[in-house]
Amino acid sequence: MNILITGGAGFIGSNFIFYELEHHPEDRLICLDKLTYAGNLSTLKDVLDRPNFRFVKEDICDREAVYRLFEEEHPDIVVHFAAESHVDRSIENPGVFLETNIMGTAVLMDAGRKYGVRRFHQVSTDEVYGDLPLDRPDLLFTEETPLHTSSPYSSSKAAADLLAMAYHRTYGLPVTISRCSNNYGPYQFPEKLIPLMIANCLADKPLPVYGQGLNVRDWLYVEDHCKAIDLIIRNGRAGEVYNIGGHNEMANIDIVKLILRELGKSEDLITYVTDRKGHDMRYAIDPSKIHAELGWLPETMFADGIKKTIRWYLDNKEWWETIISGDYKDYYRKMYENR
Ligand code: NAD
Ligand code: TYD
Repeated sequence: MNILITGGAGFIGSNFIFYELEHHPEDRLICLDKLTYAGNLSTLKDVLDRPNFRFVKEDICDREAVYRLFEEEHPDIVVHFAAESHVDRSIENPGVFLETNIMGTAVLMDAGRKYGVRRFHQVSTDEVYGDLPLDRPDLLFTEETPLHTSSPYSSSKAAADLLAMAYHRTYGLPVTISRCSNNYGPYQFPEKLIPLMIANCLADKPLPVYGQGLNVRDWLYVEDHCKAIDLIIRNGRAGEVYNIGGHNEMANIDIVKLILRELGKSEDLITYVTDRKGHDMRYAIDPSKIHAELGWLPETMFADGIKKTIRWYLDNKEWWETIISGDYKDYYRKMYENR
């Protein structure tokens, strides 16, 4: 099978490529990535020369380039990760989120219709459901929870999800959608909570906690997410949404303290800063559908996953130090100075 993976030079996409190469060596993988600030070709360096792997640097919004690639490769399956993915950036500059996350998805689905695909998988997020209150731990997001977004990021993802379902109903495009909770693990860009805190901790820099740090996220080790997507594209039903999450809710402040403890640093590094605008309070996924239909269960306990992740950032300093020495410096100054 030919599998087109968009956004494969980013965090989850690259982990998915490694997962597929290991578990399905019979398939051919084509990675389409624009290499934005969040995409890093060095992440894929060990697989670039594999005979069943091809990397193509193009923009998913470039219709001509996307059609050309479909003409050449005739993918059986598209797994669509490419997106602008950082909420804080979407608050600063929503335009590129609408362009990439909505229009780019439409271009890919048009190509999927024109050339015929067996499956178009839209990788989405639990953030499309909005947030849940802290004092109702009984409430979880199910696939039936109405879309109710808070940020330009989540709104652009929800728009793409709606469009995907419309392409399924109107044109019969065999779409599936997965909505996953927060991922953590190797190769996550250091602007996101866990790698940012690890990097700052190692440099003895302040750890900027938004508001009071009480916001709750449902953390999943990235490989568990990859396994779930693999099951959906092979055994999931077209036209269906699958929620993915590990029942691992944690408050931000507890994660930050855990990282400090693991690295043997003082809690004095914690700095409470102005809260994110429109900050979602709590995300929590009910994954019973994917468990019942596809037998998926998370395999990595948070206590192990976070240790593995910290170890990875310690062993791969060059990867993230190169990133934070470039344009990231300006980003960091703009986002965190005077906050
Ligand atoms: P990421 O920001 O690490 O990577 C995004 C990748 O997409 C990068 O390689 C980037 O170069 C590429 N890209 C961006 N714009 C592009 C364009 N116009 N054309 C081609 N490539 C482009 O993101 P991630 O954290 O790996 O997230 C991947 C997907 O998973 C996203 O769709 C995101 O919404 C979704 N998701 C992420 C999480 C999470 O916790 N990170 C959770 C649930 C869902
Ligand atoms: P993030 O990793 O950006 O993921 P998302 O907003 O998509 O859930 O942030 C996770 C949580 O951590 C979120 O509640 C915001 C908070 N946060 C901080 O407190 N400080 C930071 O510097 C960052 C990046 C995030």
